[in-house]
Amino acid sequence: FICEPMSRDFPPIDPGPRGRIIGYEMADLAAAVACLQAGDLVGLPTETVYGLAADATNGEAVAGVYEAKGRPSFNPLICHVANLAEAQRYGLFNADALRLAEAFWPGPMTLIVPFRPDSGVSDLARAGLDSIALRVPSHPVARALIAAMGRPLAAPSANLSGRISPTSAADVARDLGEKVACIIDGGTCDIGLESTIVSCLGNQPAMLRPGGVARESLEAALGATLPTATTDLVLRSPGLLQSHYAPVAPVRINVTDFRPSDAILAFGNIEKPRFVDDRLFLNLSPDSNLRQAASRLFTALRVLDARQPAAIAVAPIPTTGLGEAINDRLVRASAPRN
Ligand code: TXA
Ligand code: MG
Repeated sequence: FICEPMSRDFPPIDPGPRGRIIGYEMADLAAAVACLQAGDLVGLPTETVYGLAADATNGEAVAGVYEAKGRPSFNPLICHVANLAEAQRYGLFNADALRLAEAFWPGPMTLIVPFRPDSGVSDLARAGLDSIALRVPSHPVARALIAAMGRPLAAPSANLSGRISPTSAADVARDLGEKVACIIDGGTCDIGLESTIVSCLGNQPAMLRPGGVARESLEAALGATLPTATTDLVLRSPGLLQSHYAPVAPVRINVTDFRPSDAILAFGNIEKPRFVDDRLFLNLSPDSNLRQAASRLFTALRVLDARQPAAIAVAPIPTTGLGEAINDRLVRASAPRN
């Protein structure tokens, strides 16, 4: 099952009908890699549940994940990697994180660690956070696909938002159908419930979600008790997270009347007003493409904010499709601060 990363110029492979269920022979995995390299989505068997996988380094592919799931907001996604060494290319591991990774990877445990900037994982996969969720799955087919891809795969559970997590290829087909390029049939998931999520951001690790590895096992490996924290708390507490989830500059949304002191986040066919500096004008998608806009959203907010404008004024963005999640994020960024 161990394969080498496939070269970029792998010969074109007949994509076949969308949403088809395929096996896990080398030719099947090559086809799945070709789909992922093209920015498409693949149903991925893991030992916990099936994942909806995209190239984590391709923002537009990741936007496709949110679009396919119909998620009304951008939850950060788990990035699946081949091993601990690979995980360390994307995240920073403290002593506790290393201990847990060595004890439970490959397997049903996800670690939240500080993100290594410029390591290539798209901002959208991390929902703009300075942390990253990493997991090394143990399922041989997942491992073979990740190795063949040679890149991290962002993959939430492969169900529609609000539905039950899928534990077979047929479950994925039922929920997502032609929204995925193909679904690799790796059999029924052994564990059948999601990975345990442990945050290693603060001084002390905390469990964010119970799952495939029991708390007792984690505590035995750590030699300490493991408190529970909510994802919400981790996303919000500045002590745990290195940077703010919201920009420093005040954000105004649905703006059509820009002010000279504004940095402008445009969408669609909007000209830069002459009074605005070039560096303070970014267009999420001049062609009004919501997938492109989603893939650029977090990076654009970060870039504009770093230029320390008086305010960030955001043009109206449609609320259909991915626009719902984009607007959800913007509404939160524009909420009154306390
Ligand atoms: O078993 C699993 O974990 C499956 C398989 C496919 O690997 N994946 C899965 O992904 O359950 P998903 O997206 O359904 O759940 C990921 C959870 C979300 O609740 C998300 O908020 C949290 O992980 N998460 C991801 N990155 C995070 C971060 N940087 N900080 C806090 N929570 C994070
Ligand atoms: Mg899920």
